[in-house]
Amino acid sequence: MIDYQNIINSITTSLKRVDDRGIVASYIPELASVDVNKFGIHIVDADLNRFSSGDANELFSIQSISKVLSLSKCISIIDNDLWKRVGVEPSGDPFNHLSLLEFENGIPRNPFINAGAIVVADILVSHLKNPKEDFLAFIHELTNDTSITYNEKIAQSEKDTGFRNIAAANLLKSYGNLLNDVDTVLDFYFHQCSIEMNCEQLSDAFFIFMNHGNCQNGKTFLNINQVKRVNALMLTCGFYDEAGEFAFEVGLPGKSGVGGGIAAVLPNEFTVVTWSPGLNAKGNSELGMKALEQLTTQTSQSIF
Ligand code: DON
Repeated sequence: MIDYQNIINSITTSLKRVDDRGIVASYIPELASVDVNKFGIHIVDADLNRFSSGDANELFSIQSISKVLSLSKCISIIDNDLWKRVGVEPSGDPFNHLSLLEFENGIPRNPFINAGAIVVADILVSHLKNPKEDFLAFIHELTNDTSITYNEKIAQSEKDTGFRNIAAANLLKSYGNLLNDVDTVLDFYFHQCSIEMNCEQLSDAFFIFMNHGNCQNGKTFLNINQVKRVNALMLTCGFYDEAGEFAFEVGLPGKSGVGGGIAAVLPNEFTVVTWSPGLNAKGNSELGMKALEQLTTQTSQSIF
């Protein structure tokens, strides 16, 4: 039996001493003030045992991690029709690059680069009656926690400065791959990214990806083939141009966000979330990657 609590306590202690903690994202001004010294980790296993260490109960901005949840909601509605509008290949480019999008005629490489997530947002805006309320209700169902909500200040901060996303949405529109109004879609996208959760809540939200599409109360949100696809995309595209490195070091499907969170799953075993706001040069949490490498190496567990 693996002593997860002991292992994550020692990971937290060793990472507290690290000086090079990366740099907190500042291109969304409202994120810039987060304390770089924060570090939290939470694991929930298949038997619902929970293990927490560090700042695991502090809220942070989930940012791109929300793309896994919007993708899941989207394929629960239109299933494989999504792949007519978004690809499934890693881009090898940073999350906000636009050159490939033009080169590939407005079909984003995958749903986790910003352009792909904006197409997913467009589909949700088309299909949900009250998109922002309905998406939040989906997260409340996954987590069984109705306290989770948008951070309006962060959404506004990104709206004021999100020129590249505005460019992406317009480029998509010019290729006919955005059906709704640019402002409406971006309002939804900036809001989904602004959702705040702590490590524990996010572990609960990701429970379906390690549990065949069923959440903790047994309700089914995705079928097994859909979960296969979401996990495959996390493994190959979840860390943008560092997806290979994450698979190599950690060996789990996962997704990062510029708020410093990383959510990852070992199917049938556990969901783990780390939060450390300093980012490395590729925009992924510096210490989160280290913590997860230590976790899978010390426990000799990975999908491989
Ligand atoms: O669209 C953006 O740039 C942000 N709202 C999300 C980017 C992000 O989290 C990239 N992930 N590491």
